[in-house]
Amino acid sequence: MQERYDLICVGMALVDSIIKGFDPEPISASGYRAASGSLNVGGEAVNEAMAAARLGLKTGILCTLGRDAAGELVTETLRKSGVDTGLIVYDRDHQTPVTTMFVHDDGTRQSITNSAHRYNFHPEKYQDRFLCAKALILGSLFRAPFDDADVIREVLTAAREQGMLVIADTKLPNFRFLKLEDLKDVLPLIDYITPNEDEAKYYTGRNSPEEMAEVFLDYGVRNVIVKLGSRGCYFKNRERELRLPACSIRAVDATGAGDNFVAGFASELLCGSDAEQALRFANACGAICTTAVGAGTALRDREQVLAFLEEEKKAGHTQELTNEIESDRMDTGCNGYSANEDDEAVRPHAGKG
Ligand SMILES: Nc1ncnc2c1ncn2[C@@H]1O[C@H](COP(=O)(O)OP(=O)(O)OP(=O)(O)O)[C@@H](O)[C@H]1O
Ligand SMILES: [Mg+2]
Repeated sequence: MQERYDLICVGMALVDSIIKGFDPEPISASGYRAASGSLNVGGEAVNEAMAAARLGLKTGILCTLGRDAAGELVTETLRKSGVDTGLIVYDRDHQTPVTTMFVHDDGTRQSITNSAHRYNFHPEKYQDRFLCAKALILGSLFRAPFDDADVIREVLTAAREQGMLVIADTKLPNFRFLKLEDLKDVLPLIDYITPNEDEAKYYTGRNSPEEMAEVFLDYGVRNVIVKLGSRGCYFKNRERELRLPACSIRAVDATGAGDNFVAGFASELLCGSDAEQALRFANACGAICTTAVGAGTALRDREQVLAFLEEEKKAGHTQELTNEIESDRMDTGCNGYSANEDDEAVRPHAGKG
């Protein structure tokens, strides 16, 4: 099938109603105050697609939306970020999910989902809409529609047969509870899995990033990246492990930092960078994201990220890598996409004028 896109993100699309500075002290029998309230589009696939498009990838999204105001907001916002919305499935019987999210002053979050989030669309039925790219991001594994082993199996098998790079972001479960053991035949189809620390701990039952990564590797995942929030990230495959401290910024809202991180990582790999460079770039994308409220607010384009990394360097924050072992070249796990190959097929920026 023809590669019309660099990247397709598949997953749930929704709207976040974000409430900051909630004051739990009531001002009347049923009234409360907050510092601010805003609507932001969300869902990992949406955040990842917007970030990837801004970073220069030709990006499509496969998700489902209701024919409602929230669905229109998502579509319009995706379009404005440069994401191709032509693959979206609109469903009259489906309400676009709206999440209520409380962001506290220390940056922590609480969110409330509702029954619309249970709706499970079937991406495996739309293979022509996702097999037309160099890479696929699952946003996210363990959440609808990727909380069903059969759906995951069909999508990943097709993607691998097509030779796509497969990145699986993860999330804690909300309605359906899959264990790694339920996915033992599909985990080897994943090139990169990118849980945050809580998620990795939840699914592996281990306490350190090293041990968590080891469990995923034992299940056959080729490369593991554990996102560590303000402590950066940890990478491990069978040849090498790396720990990268976070960029030094003043974080105001961590919503979507992981999604920007994953999009940045994919974007740099597809751009021809090796995995180590891609991790540095991803680290910067995650950090930049936290400097403004909302997942799709702060990150603008690739030049911004490169300038940010340059500033970090000048300021002496060199993001020193630690824990290096064995070979100095990582397995990019890209189904034949060698990160350093001088190959136009892995250099989407090259053809974008
Ligand atoms: N306070 C911070 N300072 C600097 N960088 C940060 C900070 N928080 C996050 N990051 C960067 O963003 C990456 C992803 O953040 P995090 O670990 O919160 O992912 P996540 O929990 O998957 O996020 P989300 O699910 O909200 O998108 C981190 O690995 C790090 O590189
Ligand atoms: Mg995440």
